[in-house]
Amino acid sequence: MKGIVLAGGSGTRLRPSTVSVSKQLIPVYNKPMIYYPLSVLMLAGIREILMITTPHDAPMFQRLLGDGSWLGLEITYAEQAEPNGLAEAFIIGADHIGDDSSALILGDNIFHGPLFSSVLRDNARDVDGCVLFGYPVKDPHRYGVGVTDAEDRLIDLEEKPEHPRSNRAITGLYFYDNDVVDIAARIEPSARGELEITDVNREYLAKGKARLVDLGRGFSWLDTGTHDALLQAGQYVQVMEERQGIRIACLEEVALRMGFIGVDDCHRLGSALSGTDYGRYIMKFAEEFALEEQR
Ligand code: G1P
Repeated sequence: MKGIVLAGGSGTRLRPSTVSVSKQLIPVYNKPMIYYPLSVLMLAGIREILMITTPHDAPMFQRLLGDGSWLGLEITYAEQAEPNGLAEAFIIGADHIGDDSSALILGDNIFHGPLFSSVLRDNARDVDGCVLFGYPVKDPHRYGVGVTDAEDRLIDLEEKPEHPRSNRAITGLYFYDNDVVDIAARIEPSARGELEITDVNREYLAKGKARLVDLGRGFSWLDTGTHDALLQAGQYVQVMEERQGIRIACLEEVALRMGFIGVDDCHRLGSALSGTDYGRYIMKFAEEFALEEQR
């Protein structure tokens, strides 16, 4: 499976913070926002990742993440010149996907919750059609919304409906079989002039090939669209990390856990940041991981 992170857009609602810096590079507590979605693809076992950014922001993403080899990844870059919609990711990313399945994640979506890695891995395997991840919210009109029948089967998908028929938002993480490349190339722009991911998903639904996985109420799917939401997301990460002594979306830790890099590589990445809590956490994690392996 190939991964795509879509980190385009102009972050208009977060101006002036986003006038000179990409929204997806501003910090959520102690790390750049892009770390969070990137960690999700890694936890799904994906190593070949296309990062789609605006032309203006591309150099800064490259400075941060490079070719990804330090994390055992292959990160390549492409540009979305205009915010033409999420589904354009599959037109831009067609060569990257080739004849493989793919996962798309939006660069501003933060996911955190129990057993998420196994949910990801189970659903990334042998994708036939599309897999969507639903999450209950109190303001579904701001999102794509999934409507289910009495047996909890997905029966309709609507983009930002004025009168939502359910509270189940469709989150910004999507798994597809290879048909997505053709479907995205075929759909027409919506009234707001964008190639809508919801239109792609509706095609799968019409063929009976769209599955909704419920992330449920014990899970956290956080918004970063406004200054308040961004601050709350940062506070959430701070509270969880402080309470549990863990790090959310620490890429070096995830890379080691997933077997993408070795203990020594991980420790070296930590020691390069040894002046920070983040770096010391990585070194300690690598040391504990090594001990655990010896047992
Ligand atoms: C997009 C999608 C929407 C989805 C949301 C998740 O909305 O169009 O279906 O629920 O991402 O973050 P947008 O960010 O374009 O408003």
